[in-house]
Amino acid sequence: MSENRASENPDREHAVAFTLNGEAVRARVPARMHLGDLLRGAFGLTGVHLGCEHGVCGACTILVDGRAVRACLMLGVQADGTRVETVEGLTESGRIRDLQDAFHTRNALQCGYCTPGMLVTAAELLAEGEEAGDVPSRDVIRAAISGNYCRCTGYHAIVDAVAVTAQARHAARREVAE
Ligand code: FES
Ligand code: FES
Repeated sequence: MSENRASENPDREHAVAFTLNGEAVRARVPARMHLGDLLRGAFGLTGVHLGCEHGVCGACTILVDGRAVRACLMLGVQADGTRVETVEGLTESGRIRDLQDAFHTRNALQCGYCTPGMLVTAAELLAEGEEAGDVPSRDVIRAAISGNYCRCTGYHAIVDAVAVTAQARHAARREVAE
C-alpha cells in the first residue's frame, strides 16, 4: 500500500449537494457511508428500508436521476449532483397514488417491509411504459420486480396491482388522445 493510501482516513467526511425529493439539500457524509444510511440518518427518510444491505433484497430501492437504484450499493458521496427520489417524495408528489391504491385494494402487502422498494421499482416500470406508450405484460412486470424480495404476500397480488395500474394509466392516455 502506498504511503498516500495508508494515510487516507476512510471516515473522513465529504460535502455533497444533491436534489432530494425536489429540494436542494447539502450534507457531510463519511466516505464509507452508503446512501441508504445517509437518507435515513441525515434526512429521516425511513421509507428507505434496509434489509440485506448487499444489493439482494431490493427493500432500499430509490430513484436516482429517474432510474431505480439500490441505496445500499451506492455511496452517499456518489449522490453529489444527482436527483434522488424516495418513496416519500413519490408519495407526496401524488405520482404513485393510483399504484398505492391498487396495492391496497389488491392486498399486495402484508408486513409492508418490501413495499417501498416494490413501489419505487414499479414506478420506474410504469414511467417507462408511459414513455413507450405501451402496457407492460405480466411477464415484464414479474421480471421488473424480480430483484425485490417479498417474504409475505407471494407475488401475484403485487403483479395484479402493477398490472391494473398500468392498464388504467394506458386507458386514461388513450382517452386524452381521442
Ligand atoms: S438493503 Fe439494499 S438491496 Fe437489500
Ligand atoms: S409484504 Fe412483507 S415482505 Fe413483502
